[in-house]
Amino acid sequence: ISNLSAQDFRPKFHFSPKAHWMNDPNGMIYHNGVYHLFYQYYPNSTKWGPMHWGHATSKDLFQWQEKSIALYPDSLGMIFSGSAVLDENNTAGFGKNAMVAIFTHHNSEIEKAKTGLHEYQSIAYSTDEGESWKKYKGNPVLPNPGITDFRDPKVMWFEKGKKWVMTLATKDRVTFYSSPDLKDWKKESDFGNNLGAHGGVWECPDLFPLTYNGETKWILMVSINPGGPNGGSATQYFTGSFDGTTFLPDSKKEKWVDYGTDNYAGVTWSNTGKRKIFIGWMNNWQYADLVPTKEWRGATTLPRELGLNKINNEFYLTSIPVKEITPLLTPIGKKKSLSFDKKINLSETVKQLNGCFKLSLTFDASESFSINLGNNKGEKLMVGYDSKLNSYYIDRTEAGISNFEKGFAKKHSAPRISNSQTGKLDLILDAASIEVFADEGITSITDTFFPTSPINKLEISKSGIKPITDIALSSISLRK
Ligand code: FRU
Repeated sequence: ISNLSAQDFRPKFHFSPKAHWMNDPNGMIYHNGVYHLFYQYYPNSTKWGPMHWGHATSKDLFQWQEKSIALYPDSLGMIFSGSAVLDENNTAGFGKNAMVAIFTHHNSEIEKAKTGLHEYQSIAYSTDEGESWKKYKGNPVLPNPGITDFRDPKVMWFEKGKKWVMTLATKDRVTFYSSPDLKDWKKESDFGNNLGAHGGVWECPDLFPLTYNGETKWILMVSINPGGPNGGSATQYFTGSFDGTTFLPDSKKEKWVDYGTDNYAGVTWSNTGKRKIFIGWMNNWQYADLVPTKEWRGATTLPRELGLNKINNEFYLTSIPVKEITPLLTPIGKKKSLSFDKKINLSETVKQLNGCFKLSLTFDASESFSINLGNNKGEKLMVGYDSKLNSYYIDRTEAGISNFEKGFAKKHSAPRISNSQTGKLDLILDAASIEVFADEGITSITDTFFPTSPINKLEISKSGIKPITDIALSSISLRK
């Protein structure tokens, strides 16, 4: 029996607002056992409009409680994307352990008339664990130096230099600023106008260190729209070094956080120590305001733990679902194996799972296979690996409603980056989304799709002689 009625596309274990529009996750901060998620929110419509910061909290990154709106537009403009930090040493003077949000004020008519420019950075603070916010009287703290796109500040404490560092998207590059007190900002350097992907404007950057076998690398993530590897919005990244002033990339070529079309503007939580937890907006500007949900529009991706890996002497970012997902999983049945020239049909199991489940398997990288998902309406979603192209794919061409935008019904491919003979693939389905994590998260693909009845069919097929092993299914549901 299924309780996913036709056209109910609301995810069960991803955050989505009860009603109205959301886009980018903003200001994520962890404090006193609580994960705060703010997000670009328009409380009057299911289409983008004057931006607010919505707010939700969670203790486990899955069970979210929606709170009252944190930041409203004001005379300086709408509240665009940004970040939040814990000011442990009271550098800004708002109080010890104040939460300080650093965000873009967009489109104040007054400022625009004066300067012709419409974006500058402002701050707000909370001394009651994010329950209420006050905007700083001296806003904006970083005026616009003459750049049309000047937004999405991501701020972190740079311990070595004992200063705050802001990474800001400035049209076709990022610009680093620093400050002793979150109020007075000084430019450090620019990065990226002559390298990386430039199919669209740069937005929502993030900068943080990760280590691999004792070696530290700085990761610079930058979303771009359009210009993603499978069209529309996507997030590129660079690995390199950062000394508090300059980011030196290991390579001029960008890499991609996710190859799907529905993981955009993602950034990491602040105040989580060495752990880096990422969450993105599970949508794409190419069709974001057209997707066929009703009372609400927009959701987040799964929260993901970021890591670092090294393959053929190059560093790669990895992302896998956070470990907090484990208590939500219930393994169903025994692990199965599939040998050569065969199909395995798991529909009997999948039809009990309400379109919410995890499938894992292990395969030999010399042979292709496909995972065919379907429903009673004959809609199909295909996921697989092509050994000739050495790539993974999600094909949503016939996966349900797609007539809202001409580019939606497509197959999305992603290179296999791992060079190990044994491949591993995990996929997680939640009503109207699929997230694929291959080879411990070195390649990931996130796509939405809109089936008109729940997914209740699953068949895995392959030719060739090497078996697929460790085929495991788990149901996923929130703890009560
Ligand atoms: C990214 C973005 C940001 C901006 C926000 C506006 O999706 O365009 O650059 O701050 O959305 O809602």
